Amino acid sequence: MMEYKVKSGSPEKQRSACLVVAVFKDQVLSPAASSINDATGRMISSLLKRGDISGECGNMLMLPQVSGIPAERVLLAGCGKANEFSIKKLLKVTDGVIRKLQQNKITEASLFLPELTIENSDIGTRIEQIVIQAGHSSYQSDSLKTDKKENKSRLQKITLFVPERSDLATGRQALLNGQAIAAGVKMARQLGDLPGNICTPTYLAEQAAEIATAFGMKIKVLNEKAMEKLSMGALLSVSRGSRQEARLIVLEHRGGSSKQAPIVLVGKGLTFDAGGISLKSSSGMDEMKYDMCGGASVLGTMLAIAEMNLPLNVVAIVPSSENLPDGDANKPGDIVTSMSGQTIEILNTDAEGRLILCDALTYAERFKPTTVIDIATLTGACVVALGAHASGLFSNDESLTEELVDAGNTSQDRVWPMPLWDEYDHQLKSNFADMANIGGSKAGAVTAACFLARYTENYNWAHLDIAGTAWLSGSKKGATGRPVRLLCEFLRSRASSA
Ligand code: BES
Ligand code: MN
Ligand code: ZN
Repeated sequence: MMEYKVKSGSPEKQRSACLVVAVFKDQVLSPAASSINDATGRMISSLLKRGDISGECGNMLMLPQVSGIPAERVLLAGCGKANEFSIKKLLKVTDGVIRKLQQNKITEASLFLPELTIENSDIGTRIEQIVIQAGHSSYQSDSLKTDKKENKSRLQKITLFVPERSDLATGRQALLNGQAIAAGVKMARQLGDLPGNICTPTYLAEQAAEIATAFGMKIKVLNEKAMEKLSMGALLSVSRGSRQEARLIVLEHRGGSSKQAPIVLVGKGLTFDAGGISLKSSSGMDEMKYDMCGGASVLGTMLAIAEMNLPLNVVAIVPSSENLPDGDANKPGDIVTSMSGQTIEILNTDAEGRLILCDALTYAERFKPTTVIDIATLTGACVVALGAHASGLFSNDESLTEELVDAGNTSQDRVWPMPLWDEYDHQLKSNFADMANIGGSKAGAVTAACFLARYTENYNWAHLDIAGTAWLSGSKKGATGRPVRLLCEFLRSRASSA
C-alpha cells in the first residue's frame, strides 16, 4: 500500500530521499526546479545547457547527489514544451517518475508536480490524476510468483506538494478521490490477471461479497437454480458445458435518496472463454481468462464509488460463467429461450457473451433504472475496429452517448461511438428463431451490439465493447483496469447533476 501526503512548502528546504521537479524544453524551469536551481548555484540551468537533460516529455535525469539542499537526490522530470503541457503528458511524466524511483529503489519521494499548470484543469484534478497514475505505474502482477519483489525496496511513500497553503484542502480531497479510483482500477486489474482456475464465477461472487461487507452494501448472488426460476435460458445455456456453476451477482450502492432511480452497470463475467463447441484456436487462448474484465471493471467501480461515498444509487449486475466444450454444452443450431421470452438460434457457441448479457439486461428492468450501461469484452471485431485506444460505444440515447464521450475525454479512458442501424440488425435474422446469435462476418462489433439492443428497448442504454482496451498482450500482457476511470467519471458527473 502506497502512503500519500499533501503538503505545501519550499522544495529547497525539504528533507526527502528524492525531490521530483519538472523541467521543460527550451530550458524553461518549473517553479520548484527554479528554487532548486537558485539553491544549488544554478546547477539545473547548467545541466540543461550542456544537454544532459533535453526537457523532452518523459525524459528523466536522476541526480544522485546534490549539495546546497537537505534532500538526498533530485529527479529532473522532462515535461516537453511548457505551453503544451496537458493531463495526458502529466500522466506520462508521472509514469516515468514512478518507474525511475522504483528502478533506483527509492522508497520515499516528494513530488513537485501538482504545481504544473494546465489549461482547463485545477489543482484537484491534477492531484487526482497523479495519484491514479501512480497507483497504475506501481501495480505488480506477481501475486502468484514465489519470489515476489521485496516490499521493503518498493516505493512506499509519496508526498505531493501544492504551491499554496490554500490548496491543501482541495488537494487532500482530491487525494482521497484519486486513491478510491486507483483502488477500483487495481481491483479490476487483479481480478483480470487471475487465471481461470482461480477466478471462477464463485470466486467473483465472493469478491463482490467482500466489497459488500466492507461497505455495508446489499448483495444478492443467484445460483443456477434461482436463474432457472427466472427462466434465464440464454445465460444457463452457456454454463451447461462447465463444471463451475454460473452466478448472477447483484450488488447495490445506495448513496442517493430512496426515490432516486438507479443507474445499473452490467459487466460480462465470463471467467474463461474457450469458445465452447465452436472452439477457439489454441494460440493466445490463455488471454480468454480476461473475458470477465467487464465484470471486474464493474466491481472495481463499485469499490471506488463506495469509497468516495458517491451520493447516487448504482446497481451492479455481473452474469458470470465459463464457456467450455462438453458433452452437454451448447451446440451450433441449438435454440434457447431468453428471460425476455425471445428465442435465439445459437449458430456459434463462441458468441456467448451476448447470451449471458441478454438475460442480465432483462433482469436489470426490475430496478426501474434511469440508465443501464453494459461493459463487455464482446467481440474480436471491436479490436479490429478501434484497437487498444478506445472502447466501442453503442447507445440508444444521444445524450447518454455524449455524456460517455465527455467522461472518457476527461478521464483519459476514451470511448468512440458506433452505429446501431436497422441494416445491421437485419443481419441477425434466423430461419428458425427470433434471432441468431451471430450476424455474419461483417461488422461483428455492431451486430453484437444490435443483438443486445433487442433486450434494452425499455430503458436508456449504452454498451461498451472493451475487447481491445481491457488488457494488453505480448510482453506487457496484463489487465488495464479500463474502463473503471471512465465509469467513475461518468457516475461522478451524474452525482453532481442529480
Ligand atoms: N470473448 C470473445 C471476444 C474477444 C475475442 C475479445 C478476442 C477479445 C479478443 C467473445 O466471446 C467471442 O468469442 N466473440 C466472437 C464472436 C463471433 C463468434 C461472432 C468473436 O469475436 O470472434
Ligand atoms: Mn466467445
Ligand atoms: Zn467471450
